[in-house]
This record gives sequence, structure tokens and C-alpha cells, in this order.
Amino acid sequence: MTTSSAPGKVYLFGEHAVVYGEPAVPCAIGRRARVTVEARDDARLRVDSKDLTLDGFTVTYGEAAGTEVNVPQSLVEAATGYVDEAVAQARDAADAPDAGFNVTIESEIPLGAGLGSSAAVVVAGIDAATRELGVELPPEELADRAYQVERDVQDGQASRADTFCSAMGGAVRVEGDDCRRIEAPELPFVVGYDGGAGDTGKLVAGVREIREQYGFAADTVEAIGDIVRHGERILAKGDLDELGRLMNFNHGLLSALGVSSRSLDTMVWAARDAGARGAKLTGAGGGGCIVALDESDGARTALDYTPGCEQAFRAELDTEGVRVE
Ligand code: PMV
Repeated sequence: MTTSSAPGKVYLFGEHAVVYGEPAVPCAIGRRARVTVEARDDARLRVDSKDLTLDGFTVTYGEAAGTEVNVPQSLVEAATGYVDEAVAQARDAADAPDAGFNVTIESEIPLGAGLGSSAAVVVAGIDAATRELGVELPPEELADRAYQVERDVQDGQASRADTFCSAMGGAVRVEGDDCRRIEAPELPFVVGYDGGAGDTGKLVAGVREIREQYGFAADTVEAIGDIVRHGERILAKGDLDELGRLMNFNHGLLSALGVSSRSLDTMVWAARDAGARGAKLTGAGGGGCIVALDESDGARTALDYTPGCEQAFRAELDTEGVRVE
């Protein structure tokens, strides 16, 4: 039996603009998905998860297996798509096409909220399954295989940001296919979650439309890229005040591009009013999470009392990527 874990992530800067070739800086956070894998002596898969979808499910599937499920098939298919493809990658990497597994998933990362929950499950899953088969993959290969899983499950709509960040840990820089770790100081992130999620495809399409329609919207996307390039230098210097100002600027530009929401703006302002150095939405937007930079308890406490904020938690930069538990 092998257990691996991998972190979720927030975007310090650059979501949406990254779709148009600008750089982005996602950061791994101290909230993890843990995947336990046990080899079976048949080719089947059994997946247990309390956190993967609505109220938890157990499903056994694979070669000629009957399914035992208590949630709608479409949800099971969506959730098990990631696990299926992760297992396919592990079988391929270990050259063991008939390997079967019992898989147990536990996650501390809210689902579909821009915190990279699926990437963390896939990275940890491939790591645990390959190790269970006696193969140890370097994190770069894990990141690449996990990216292929996300791309396949999400119909080609995945960037490398989540999977690379989850595999490597720390702050990373992503520009097209070029992904690397970058230096960063300790970053005291606080996350506010409105309990919802935006429709990533729709939000990305909305930005694409106004970017094509208005020159100033295209300039806005480029300006986000400029913030990222400036932000990288500030990150290396460790100037948290300036990082906060840049996060605020980045949020304003995302808002101008139409991807914020009332609840995200409310949480952003609650964190700023409580003394955070900066705050912005993270991920696709439309709903989901904000990230604030605050080493005091002010922002988290304020978010706890903010109507519309369902959950607030501290989630500092985690320099460790995927690891064996
Ligand atoms: O919400 P997330 O974590 O899946 O992030 C989406 C980030 C976008 O830049 C909006 C889209 C993308 O694929 O990069």
C-alpha cells in the first residue's frame, strides 16, 4: 500500500492572460490531496472517496466489473475520468497494462473552486500507483503525465499550471509549455471561498470575445502580463507590500475583463479592509476563491464574518510538491 500527497494552488498573478501566451505565477498551498493505492491481484479498480464528488461514493469498475454506485452515473464518470486516466498513465509508465488497484482519495482542497483539486488528485494518484508498481518517476515526468490526464479529461482545455505546480511545489512560472520553479519568500496566503464555482469555459470564452472586440481589452490582457513580469522580480526580492499592491492591480484588471463577481469582490474588499497587503480572485473567477496576502489573523477573521464567504482558511506557500506520506 502506498500513499502520496500533492498540494493545491492559488494564482499569485496571471490567470486568463496565460491563455494568450503571457506568463503566470501559480503557487502551491498547504492544502493537499492524499491518494492511497493498493495493488490488486486482478485488473480491476476500486475507488473510494469521501471528497471527490457530492456525498462520497464507492465504485468498482474495470474489466467486466459491475458498478456499485449511489450517485448519478454522469457525476461518477466525471470524477472517475481523472482516476481512470491517472491509472492508465501509471500502467503505461510502469509497463504494467493489467495492473489493478484499490484507490482511496482524501482531499482538503475544495472542488472546482480554482484551487487545483483535480490536478492534486491526479499527481498524487500517478505517484502512488507507479510507486506501488515499483517505479519512481521524477516530478517533471509526473507533472507531464498529469497534464496529459487533465487535457484528455477536459477535452483539450487544460494549461500546465495546476499540474506542474502541484508536482513541483513552491512558486512556479508558466509561459506556454515553458514551466519552471522560481524563488519566493514565505507567502502568508489566506483563502476565502464562496462555496461556488465559475464556469471556466464560459469565462475564458468571454475574455476571448472582448479581447477580440476591443483593443483596450487586448491591452488589459497584456497589462496583466506586465504585472506578472514585474511581480516575478518583486517576488525574488521578497517585498510583500509591493506584491500585495500588484495583486490588487491584477484583480482590478481581471474585474475589468468581466471575470469577477459580487461575492469575490466582497471577499477581496473584506480582506483588504482587514489589513491584508493585497487580495485578488484566483483561477477562472465568476465565483469560487479569492487569495489574500496577510500574515496576521485579520483577513481570515474578517472573511469568517463576511456574508457570502462559506469558508476561510490560511494556506501558506508550500514549497513541497508531491511526496510519499
Ligand atoms: O480555475 P482554474 O484553477 O482551473 O484556473 C483557470 C485559469 C485560466 O487561466 C482562466 C484558464 C487556464 O486554463 O489557464
